[in-house]
Amino acid sequence: MDEKERIRWFEEARFGMFIHWGDYSVLGRGEWVMFQENIPVSEYEKLADRFKPPRSFSPLEWVKLAKDAGMKYMVLTTRHHDGFCLFDSKVSDFTSVNRAAGRDFIKEYVDACRKVGMKIGFYYSLIDWRMPVSCEGPEKNPSGWKKYVADVVHRQVEELMTNYGKIDILWYDGSFYINNRRTVATTAEHWDAEKLNAMVRRLQPEIIINNRSGLPEDFDTPEQHITPSQPERMWESCMTINKHWGYFATDDLYKPAKELVHILTACVSGGGNLLLNVGPKPDGTIPEEAIVRLKKIGKWLKVNGESIYGTKRASLDTGTAGCASEGKDCYYIFVHWWPGKTLTLPYIKEEISSAWVLSTGKKIGLKREGDRLILKNLPEEPPDELTTVIVLKK
Ligand code: GLC
Repeated sequence: MDEKERIRWFEEARFGMFIHWGDYSVLGRGEWVMFQENIPVSEYEKLADRFKPPRSFSPLEWVKLAKDAGMKYMVLTTRHHDGFCLFDSKVSDFTSVNRAAGRDFIKEYVDACRKVGMKIGFYYSLIDWRMPVSCEGPEKNPSGWKKYVADVVHRQVEELMTNYGKIDILWYDGSFYINNRRTVATTAEHWDAEKLNAMVRRLQPEIIINNRSGLPEDFDTPEQHITPSQPERMWESCMTINKHWGYFATDDLYKPAKELVHILTACVSGGGNLLLNVGPKPDGTIPEEAIVRLKKIGKWLKVNGESIYGTKRASLDTGTAGCASEGKDCYYIFVHWWPGKTLTLPYIKEEISSAWVLSTGKKIGLKREGDRLILKNLPEEPPDELTTVIVLKK
């Protein structure tokens, strides 16, 4: 398959759901709780006895919600930095299959995605805090490090790439070790990443791989910020819906739906994707605050989706309005900040033949003043509360 072709669905998808879920969800203080509270390994591992979602819970609930939100793909933590696996592994007992839950959630998630037609992503943390080498690092204990990389990391990635059918995205993370309570960045060599990813591509020829194994691979991953890569390079911003990735019971700082739409449109206008994270509770349910927001975005996308999916980055100065994307024969202006009756686009050289509001189809009057294009007779109030999209036909 041609390289451009392989990644095309991802570039057109624009919006995905990130899920951080594991035994740490039981404590409800985020996915870094083991490190942040310096919990001894033996005590931490007992959490796996308490991580036991009810039978009634199915990952299908997540997938359906993602679909309702207009998301086209998902990425789930198969294991985070604490090493707890949501899948069956021959090289670890610390899994949801072997412990209290008694379930392979990765299999359930994969089946649910296939049922709904959702593209499937796996997040995998290279580091496992429970391993002594994660504090010794590759320099202090080179042979122990190498053994961990070969016998655990490479084996588990192989398991994930072998046991669940076709996987669309591999999302590495955790390329670091710990020294004196600080993270120290590692390199691709430390993980033998050339070999690792060659294996992945042999097992999954169409897979898309992120850049966090230390090699550039297919796409960049700005975290909690929107920073477009060079035009030829694919990128995806990952962002939390509140302030944390894993479930944090007292985190009520959810971004309003309007801000989330601003974020999504900003990603699209820079030619990238948004991977928006939710942290389900230990019972698997997604906090209501997140559900409400995702459904609002989904409603907005139902009407305004043509300005998002399959559109390109637009090099268009939108002045005070917000940002823009480019379709086949038109621009889409995302008006974040409604100006009232008149909107002035400061600098448009191209001929624009007509304009209308995407959600209502209502025509907009146009007037040229040199480089400026004035959109006239707009309604005083924005037609769409979350962000009004204006189509400019070339
Ligand atoms: C960071 C954090 C982690 C989170 C991830 C998401 O690397 O360590 O907890 O999973 O970013 O991008």
